[in-house]
Amino acid sequence: MTQEQQFEFLIEGIVAKGYAICDDFLESNEVENLLETFAQRYKSGKFREASIGKQSEVHKASLVRGDEILWLETNSIDAAERMLLDKNQAFVDYLNQTCYLGIKDTEIHFAKYDVGKYYRRHRDTFQTQKGRVLSVIYYLNTHWIPENGGNLIIYAQENGVEKAITITPLAGRLVCFESEKLDHEVTETFAERYSVTGWLLNRR
Ligand code: OGA
Ligand code: MN
Repeated sequence: MTQEQQFEFLIEGIVAKGYAICDDFLESNEVENLLETFAQRYKSGKFREASIGKQSEVHKASLVRGDEILWLETNSIDAAERMLLDKNQAFVDYLNQTCYLGIKDTEIHFAKYDVGKYYRRHRDTFQTQKGRVLSVIYYLNTHWIPENGGNLIIYAQENGVEKAITITPLAGRLVCFESEKLDHEVTETFAERYSVTGWLLNRR
């Protein structure tokens, strides 16, 4: 698939079901390069335990989510980060041109889940002031096996009935969903789990 076909495929899914899964959105060398930058950043000690809501509630948060995160700088000059930021922006531009979504800004972070960590069922709009329209998650886990757990579960509505969609965090895969509409969770992981999570915002 060309990049434009991938964008179209993602949009079709979002319109029909509120979510979409696109495999091989990132090429394997792009995943490798991102993992290298990820490891460097992680070694530099800049990752922080993720919070929910207010910064003061980190300890309460650790019962809800156990990942460590680092926000990307949108003006990064690291080649791997630049590639991801530019691809993400290309998707934003395509969405704005074809769907008139009015995406004005993005926020993107690396996320690392250590063995035993998870993220309980939640919605991404607990920070309501932020204007999150779409959530995007890029997975970086090469050689991932089902025994590793660490699945993303999206709770979708089909004809008024809730349906749990299980998504493995395979390298190169992009998952995109409507931030305001869909509950989701990350099940306990039994291997270190790497991803980049972003939000497309309708505010600056
Ligand atoms: C999040 C989230 C899901 C995943 O960071 O808000 O739900 O699969 N991540 O990493
Ligand atoms: Mn989430």
